[in-house]
Amino acid sequence: MKTPENTPAHDLASVRAHYDQLSVRYRDDSNQVCRRAYEALTREVLSDAQRVLELGAGPSPALSVLSAPVRVASDLSREMLRANPHLHEAVRLVADAQCLPFATGAFDAIFCVNVLEHVPDPGQLIREAARILSPGGLFFGITPNGGTGWILELLERLRLKLPEGPHRFLDYAELGSMLPPEMTMVRHRRFLAFPAGPDALVRGVDRLFQRGQGEGLFHYVLMRKDR
Ligand SMILES: C[S@@+](CC[C@H](N)C(=O)[O-])C[C@H]1O[C@@H](n2cnc3c(N)ncnc32)[C@H](O)[C@@H]1O
Repeated sequence: MKTPENTPAHDLASVRAHYDQLSVRYRDDSNQVCRRAYEALTREVLSDAQRVLELGAGPSPALSVLSAPVRVASDLSREMLRANPHLHEAVRLVADAQCLPFATGAFDAIFCVNVLEHVPDPGQLIREAARILSPGGLFFGITPNGGTGWILELLERLRLKLPEGPHRFLDYAELGSMLPPEMTMVRHRRFLAFPAGPDALVRGVDRLFQRGQGEGLFHYVLMRKDR
């Protein structure tokens, strides 16, 4: 039988259906510890950007932590965007992140949180972001670490996390290999080794693993478009 869990991730319609249906409870049931860590990182790396696009924004408040005068929140699922109460001054757009209706150089920063693993061709998402970034612009993407994906699968089976739906986790090497030729890798790190409990504990554990590429259930890339 075909279920959202075993349907290939490249089926956009099933990804959309999964998130349309999850939108009602997504915001309240998602891991708040992870959310706060994503927001802190987003603020750290993108606070200077003036024109920002979030891909697969869903009901996330991440875009609202930035004070950029131009903010666009996009998602494949209209229902996920509708469930977002934080987008008062942002433009909302329903679109597939692999093919976006924007001109070359339209944004200074583009980011996505837990989206790359749901996209049929995550490399195409990054190439499309590179196309619409201005020279010097930043792409910032957070996604589960495929190397420890089995832990997330286990947590899902135990009903300790929301169902992923159609997805394919990316490991460290695969995500790193998606750097487009016109971009430079600024950072690629693993983090959130222990995403539970007080934020100070979560940050403390990550500090223990800060050498090299870090450790954790998630990783992120920060890429800059060459001038
Ligand atoms: C796990 S949720 C993450 C939502 C939000 N970024 C957050 O951090 O809470 C994945 C989101 O990616 C969206 N998505 C999946 N495939 C997409 C695509 N091809 N283009 C744009 N958005 C997509 C889904 O609709 C969903 O809102």
